[in-house]
Amino acid sequence: MKVIIPVAGVGTRLRPHTLSKPKPLLRVAEKTILSYVLDPLLALNPEEVIFVIGHKGSQIRQFVEENYDFKATFVWQDRLLGLGYAVQQGLLHVGDGPVLVILGDTIVECDLKELIRHKENILGVRQVDDPQRFGVAEVKDGMVVSLQEKPAEPRTNLALIGLYYFYDSSELKQALNDLVVSGRRTRGEIQLTDALETMIDNGARFRAFEVKQWYDCGKKEAVLATNRHFLMKLPPTSPPEGVTIVPPVYIAPGAKVSESVIGPYVSIADGAEVHRCIIKNSIISTGASIDNAVIERSLVGMNTTVKGTSQVLNVGDSSEVDYD
Ligand code: G1P
Repeated sequence: MKVIIPVAGVGTRLRPHTLSKPKPLLRVAEKTILSYVLDPLLALNPEEVIFVIGHKGSQIRQFVEENYDFKATFVWQDRLLGLGYAVQQGLLHVGDGPVLVILGDTIVECDLKELIRHKENILGVRQVDDPQRFGVAEVKDGMVVSLQEKPAEPRTNLALIGLYYFYDSSELKQALNDLVVSGRRTRGEIQLTDALETMIDNGARFRAFEVKQWYDCGKKEAVLATNRHFLMKLPPTSPPEGVTIVPPVYIAPGAKVSESVIGPYVSIADGAEVHRCIIKNSIISTGASIDNAVIERSLVGMNTTVKGTSQVLNVGDSSEVDYD
């Protein structure tokens, strides 16, 4: 089985962090969003993982090459025309066998082996409160009967979560090629959902696979909520001398923390330095330096300096917040 992971998007809702790095490389708890997507795939032993890259794509390539051994191919998405176009580009590297498509920010906890066990097409779905933000599936007797992409008036609240399995990718290729040629756009983009809808209209069958554990990283609050969830699963951190830890907390082995109260729900990456601080419910990125500050509900970017402040922060990489 081959896997296609579209990771070309610009991640507008997570600016300023995504101005300097692609969204899948943002950190949550002890690793990047992309690692939460990739690590469960290893058990499936994929023949090849095809990354469709664009915005800051060289960082994705470097990260994957440095951290993973599977056969990885990087396809450059020349134009950001939509998810349907991204998948079409990825499919150029896939024969007619089975293919799993998982979005580069779709963090799920589910049995992926079960998902690909049967010889049938699968769409991952979950009930949501705000279906207008998603592709939406109408399901009867376990099978998807219709789809809508971000509809103003959703027929159901079952969202497509960004996990798609095609037992035979040839029909998808055909549907996407037809869609691209037809010029059809929804919300200005070539949508994967539209291609799937055409496939269903032409008789293809998709089983709905309900995934209860799906963790969104779409915006700052969602990233912090996902951080809280994964911190709770980590083993306890032993506090460095002079530091009080309120669990759950993750402090990377290469971070230096002193004279501080850290937690609950704080993740501090390698190379960060934290001195004389009180930090709750926040993510402190690699190489950040925080001194004499009280911080909560904050995202602090890589190599950013924060000094002498008591605030809720959302600062990107290589920035300076200095009130000392
Ligand atoms: C994409 C898909 C949408 C799906 C969503 C899941 O939208 O087009 O059908 O529900 O991913 O995250 P995007 O979030 O890229 O706008």
